[in-house]
Amino acid sequence: MLIELKNVSFTYPNGPKAVDKVSLSIGRGEFIALIGHSGAGKTTLAKLIVGLLKPKTGWVKVGDLDTKTTPVSKIAEHVGYVFQNPDLMIFSATIYDEVAFALRNRGYGEDEIKKRVVQALKEVDLGHKPLDTPPYMLSFGEKHRLAIASVLATEPDLLILDEPTTGLDYARCLKIMEICERLVKKGKSVLIITHDFGLIAEYASRVLVMKKSRIIRDGVTKDVLGDVEFLKSEGFMPLQSTLLARKLGVNAITPRELASTILEKKALK
Ligand SMILES: Nc1ncnc2c1ncn2[C@@H]1O[C@H](COP(=O)(O)OP(=O)(O)OP(=O)(O)O)[C@@H](O)[C@H]1O
Ligand SMILES: [Mg+2]
Repeated sequence: MLIELKNVSFTYPNGPKAVDKVSLSIGRGEFIALIGHSGAGKTTLAKLIVGLLKPKTGWVKVGDLDTKTTPVSKIAEHVGYVFQNPDLMIFSATIYDEVAFALRNRGYGEDEIKKRVVQALKEVDLGHKPLDTPPYMLSFGEKHRLAIASVLATEPDLLILDEPTTGLDYARCLKIMEICERLVKKGKSVLIITHDFGLIAEYASRVLVMKKSRIIRDGVTKDVLGDVEFLKSEGFMPLQSTLLARKLGVNAITPRELASTILEKKALK
């Protein structure tokens, strides 16, 4: 197993219990979406997985490494985490140095670094920017993509994206999802925190639902997003295409599935 959490709980100093008795396994090649209302504990769970926070009880393992006893830099060789707020991640003078930073830390040669930086910037659609562009000259969405590039360049086994679609237009959201899909095809895993059910339905294979510090549902995407009663009772809005499919008495989640199911039925007539 790539990642394993057993009975993990975490409480912020003078704060609430943000993660409560969570057990979870993540394998290789998984594309997982983590959903939940604001304050449910999603970011805290992500930070526990990458070792930025340590469990108060229970344990988190990345491969054989226990996050409690392993330096964060060592965990970061396996798990890449892109913060919800890119300003918290970006600190270099140029976009080149920003993406190169983690690679330099790992002792790669400058030729390899340049190759990876250029490739990663291209992947997030920043390939047209001069490499000496100062990050503060980027828009919020561009900074977020820069943050993604700096993690992508390290080729982690698990990429965690915390609400990466914030501030991005739809075409760029798709681009991010395609990058994730390519990683998954290479056997890497992705955990994406997002409220965008449309993107989840198209790309993720598994959905985790957090509520009040706990995981209340863990299942294949089709089952979770197709469970209209569950979603409504938890205050989520199912996709319109899922609701319409229900009304028509067909089994579909996304508009694409709905259209092809209807076309198939028509062809059978
Ligand atoms: N640094 C902190 N100190 C104290 N409490 C915190 C801290 N960060 C988060 N919390 C609290 O822990 C709980 C879980 O927060 P978390 O950020 O993990 O939620 P989230 O699901 O990521 O929410 P959002 O969708 O708004 O990003 C919330 O009650 C929050 O107020
Ligand atoms: Mg969050």
